[in-house]
Amino acid sequence: MRDRIDRLLREHGRPAQVYQAPGRVNLLGEHTDYSGGFCMPAALNFNTLVAASPRQDRLLRLHSLDFSETVEVDLGALAIPAKDGHPRWNHYCEGVAWSLQQEQGIELGDIELIGADLTLSGNVPQGAGLSSSASVEVATATALLGLAGRGLPKPQIALACQRAENQYVHGSCGIMDQFISACGVRGNALAIDTRALTAELAPIPDNLRLVVCNSMVTHQVAGASPYAERRREVEEAAHVLGRQLRDVSLEELNAARGQMSHEAFLRARHVITDSQRVVEGVACLRAGDQKRFGALMTEAHASFRDDFAASCERCDLLVTLALELDGCLGSRLTGGGFGGCTVSLVEADEAESFAETLREHYREATGVVAQVFVCVVADGAGPVPST
Ligand code: GLA
Repeated sequence: MRDRIDRLLREHGRPAQVYQAPGRVNLLGEHTDYSGGFCMPAALNFNTLVAASPRQDRLLRLHSLDFSETVEVDLGALAIPAKDGHPRWNHYCEGVAWSLQQEQGIELGDIELIGADLTLSGNVPQGAGLSSSASVEVATATALLGLAGRGLPKPQIALACQRAENQYVHGSCGIMDQFISACGVRGNALAIDTRALTAELAPIPDNLRLVVCNSMVTHQVAGASPYAERRREVEEAAHVLGRQLRDVSLEELNAARGQMSHEAFLRARHVITDSQRVVEGVACLRAGDQKRFGALMTEAHASFRDDFAASCERCDLLVTLALELDGCLGSRLTGGGFGGCTVSLVEADEAESFAETLREHYREATGVVAQVFVCVVADGAGPVPST
């Protein structure tokens, strides 16, 4: 990371404090976070870095090393962009500044943002389902709050960033990605209660690795995406049942089956069972039952594929190929779905050869060269020490 920081500071060209916020992988509980349910993401050793220096003129000057572009906006005149079109990188940063200045809905207190020069650079693969946009949002929020000399509880930072994405960027995401990017703890996944906005540590044992494999099938959350379609189906089921799926048992769902579309029933079944898998999963990790935890991940994939209909052929193939290899305890598609990455739980001794063989078998079957990462579970956002 030192090389990346040195380059960032060189390009920034002014004395600065550097902040970072990570991307994530989700282990269990997919599409549960807008139903008040449980999910279990882990922060990864891929992040967005922001070099930040204050300005006194209320201007926000954003420079992206990855897009070689500079944008300047007045903090007092931020306007929500039109809904059509693909959001641009700077919209995520502007949205966070906009959200931090809103007074309604989230208890942020009275935040007086000062102007800022921010230079950004990230290494979270984009469009891969590893939450590169949440890492940009949370890194920006952490930097702006740092410059303003304001500390906030981390879940509030996550909420402010989610509001930026929902209202400014028009992405209909839940709270999971921003929460883990803000609150992640090295060596642990977090079992998040997305309604209470609290989390329990779910320790990832030292003898295991998370291996993330990018199918190279791209996905998107914003705009007219299949993500939004799934969300509508889940909301149909919740509407029929008269409450959030967090409060519905499988028996109650089965009893109401005839009152909703077949799709809504299947989607709701996934949401309810996947949320339960998080509860069982955190107990397994705490009790050291690694085998059962791996099996839960593989069961979660089947549920996501069959009930939620949000997998794709290539991700199914990656899961099948992963499960054939030595040392693999479980494997599944991670994130919003319809492409992106799989995550496999693999014995540490086997992880490097697992990664290499998986890449090779996928290339033989599809002709596509996947990116495969043996990951480290990192901390959430914060200032980066200067040495
Ligand atoms: C995306 C969203 C999250 C969550 C996941 C699915 O990553 O941003 O809020 O809904 O999909 O679990």
